[in-house]
Amino acid sequence: MMDWTTRDQRAFVRTLTRRALLYTEMVTTGAILHGSPRERFLGYDQVEHPLALQLGGSDAGELAECAAIAEAWGYDEVNLNVGCPSDRVQNNLIGACLMAHPEKVAAAVRAMREAVSIPVTVKCRIGIDDQDEDADLERFIALVADAGCEVFIVHARKAWLQGLSPKQNRDVPPLNYPRVHRLKASRPELHIGINGGIKTLEACREQLAQVDSVMVGREAYQNPWLLAGVDEALYGVTGPATSRHDAARAFRPYISRRLEEGAKLNHITRHLLGLFQGRPGGRRFRRHLSENGHLDGACLRVYDDALSLVPETTPVTETA
Ligand SMILES: Cc1cc2nc3c(=O)[nH]c(=O)nc-3n(C[C@H](O)[C@H](O)[C@H](O)COP(=O)(O)O)c2cc1C
Repeated sequence: MMDWTTRDQRAFVRTLTRRALLYTEMVTTGAILHGSPRERFLGYDQVEHPLALQLGGSDAGELAECAAIAEAWGYDEVNLNVGCPSDRVQNNLIGACLMAHPEKVAAAVRAMREAVSIPVTVKCRIGIDDQDEDADLERFIALVADAGCEVFIVHARKAWLQGLSPKQNRDVPPLNYPRVHRLKASRPELHIGINGGIKTLEACREQLAQVDSVMVGREAYQNPWLLAGVDEALYGVTGPATSRHDAARAFRPYISRRLEEGAKLNHITRHLLGLFQGRPGGRRFRRHLSENGHLDGACLRVYDDALSLVPETTPVTETA
């Protein structure tokens, strides 16, 4: 998610779940091929694995080149964005507008598959504008699967590219989970993941009875403690954090390292503002970081002070 799932956010998430697959923000082929330094667009911490790089683009040759670069940088998967509705990307034939060009997506996937041995996956919508959610989606999936894509993450709502802002396009077009379930039923050989409006581990579990995976976006960002239950509830293994304070403390060495590299405290800690959401002291934590994290020279002390404003509970009372 642009500006949200930055490398710092992802590193923080690893204090909560070791297993969930993490995705980068969308990075355009132009940024990778012509941006400098490349580290700015592709750099990550080893702790973030398993990690997928999401690409934005439509030129098969450029996408193949970027996929190869992603593999060389050690990414575990490369994902093509066919879901972003912003005007800016539509003008460059990036994102959801590609739902209207399945042959182009298929050609890109074929070229990417030939360039790498890591999985090449696609994130798409159930349709755009006046597309038929059944016939057009089926055709899109059939062509792209024929090109070698075995994994689709489907945001279970259309994007209306005319007249809705990107933000509205995440809420206004209605969710249609049954459409994604039918897709899985009709193409059982494909890995079908579902996305959109899923907010609890219970809801994830319900979805997993019908599809292969669940992608959680906004809720995981705004209420990161949700992710602390993922390893146990969905993978059957113990997760890394027994309490929010635990997770926050485990993140200290990472913050310290990033500060030494020149990162600003608030660029890192803005992703933790929801950690104590709904808990006593949660607002004070948030306020202290927001008011002090951006000041020149803000250091770990600010972080520790913010944490000290939240009473520490015993691990047994912490629930996801
Ligand atoms: C701030 C923000 C940035 C986003 N950026 C991306 C992106 O770069 N790539 C992408 O595939 N989806 C992006 N999305 C969409 C989410 O991945 C997801 O499809 C959408 O929010 C619906 O899922 P949710 O209800 O679980 O959040 C973004 C969403 C938000 C809120």
